[in-house]
Amino acid sequence: MKFFIDTANLDEIRKFKAMGLLDGVTTNPSLVAKEGKEFRPLIAEICEIVQGPVSAEVVATEADQMVAEAKELASISKHVVVKLPTIREGIKALARCVEAGIKVNMTLIFQPVQALIVAKVGAAYASPFLGRLDDISQDSMDMLAEIREIYDNYHFSTQILAASLRHPLHVAQAARIGADVATIPPAVFDKLLDHPLTAIGLEKFLADWKKGKG
Ligand code: E4P
Repeated sequence: MKFFIDTANLDEIRKFKAMGLLDGVTTNPSLVAKEGKEFRPLIAEICEIVQGPVSAEVVATEADQMVAEAKELASISKHVVVKLPTIREGIKALARCVEAGIKVNMTLIFQPVQALIVAKVGAAYASPFLGRLDDISQDSMDMLAEIREIYDNYHFSTQILAASLRHPLHVAQAARIGADVATIPPAVFDKLLDHPLTAIGLEKFLADWKKGKG
């Protein structure tokens, strides 16, 4: 499973990159707005650090404008993956981006048939939002398992990018189901690395080591 970080914060990106854990980055308009920086240079800097796929989302909602934005974003770096919303105009824009050789991550997927459609049209990634579905009491893992089954049935090459992850269990469950990528917020990334028994165990080892040395 590939690990992407779901943030536009450069310090967080550098931190997880330094651990050798980072395969890519996803951003969205909310995450970029939080940083208070200019969009294009920010994405360029993220690409420079990561040297892997970096999702940057369009804000237009009409296909012609989406494609124009997609071309502009794709020109920033070879690492940019353009994010388009899974709406009718987004599907139209996806078809044109695929034709133009632009890699696309289709976002805001909440049901398996949306994932089927974006794979048919040629998305590089499909992003089902797990946490937001759980928030409205629908089992996100059922959705994820159905998408996996559909993609395997038809040997689609679109990668399933599990998004809107809220806790380590989401990451583990998505890995069991076979999501290709998990995009993980920094706070959840931190939790993946911690276990109280690891900390207690290390403390005891080091205390014993000191005692043994007299
Ligand atoms: C994915 O690419 C999105 O940026 C993200 O996972 C949305 O997560 P949220 O539901 O925590 O906002």
